[in-house]
Amino acid sequence: MRTPIVAGNWKMNKTISEARELVSEFVPLVKDMNAVEIVLCPPSPALLPVAALLEGTDIELGAQNMHWESGGAYTGELAPVMVKEFANFVILGHSERRAYFGETDETVNKKVKAAQNEGLMPIICVGESLEENQAGKTEDIVSGQIKAGLKDVGANLVIAYEPIWAIGTGLAATSEMANDTIKIIRSNLKELFGQEDAEKIRILYGGSVKGSNAAEYFSQSDIDGALVGGASLKADAFAEIVVAAQNEAVK
Ligand code: PGA
Repeated sequence: MRTPIVAGNWKMNKTISEARELVSEFVPLVKDMNAVEIVLCPPSPALLPVAALLEGTDIELGAQNMHWESGGAYTGELAPVMVKEFANFVILGHSERRAYFGETDETVNKKVKAAQNEGLMPIICVGESLEENQAGKTEDIVSGQIKAGLKDVGANLVIAYEPIWAIGTGLAATSEMANDTIKIIRSNLKELFGQEDAEKIRILYGGSVKGSNAAEYFSQSDIDGALVGGASLKADAFAEIVVAAQNEAVK
């Protein structure tokens, strides 16, 4: 049994005071959700204040990105050791970083290695575009991203399958479609890490997940939680998703 993860990717949203408000509202709503690992990924300035608010809870923190070098002349970047001061998780290779900031499978691979060296759990995002999906290339694209991004890394990681056409669009992939692709990802992981380790890796679905569709995803055989964007910005909407994961986990 894999413990589900529900992670909230706030992207470039929430000032520190807004972050405090959201977390203060959210924490009491999920206090009994002990079968789910909950991870909040605020923007960097909110990491420290959110960490303080989460003290004494089981809710974990993640960063949304970081650099692979351990420090030095990289203006605007965060080193793994700086992330580790607050967080246990880091999102890597999100499609927005790939599309707008030149992230490639090679840079993702360097970052995964750096995260694991620092004892951070990477949440590695993969997914195909609408054109790739319509051309029947989903398997090729996603398997390519997995094999290149995870070259020579350890099995201590989480994958998020996020079809790009489903992110922030309201066009969620059907739960069967998502599960089929996630099964392909798990077979890629078996090739890389062997059956036993691959069975332990959590693979999340991301893309327009909300309270009303979350249970459907979580009921699928290979979907181990969700990476949530828009719906993680409201305490009650995000809590609804956590509750759906909890209900499935204790079934
Ligand atoms: P969304 O974003 O839930 O707003 O579609 C998901 C993500 O980008 O991680």
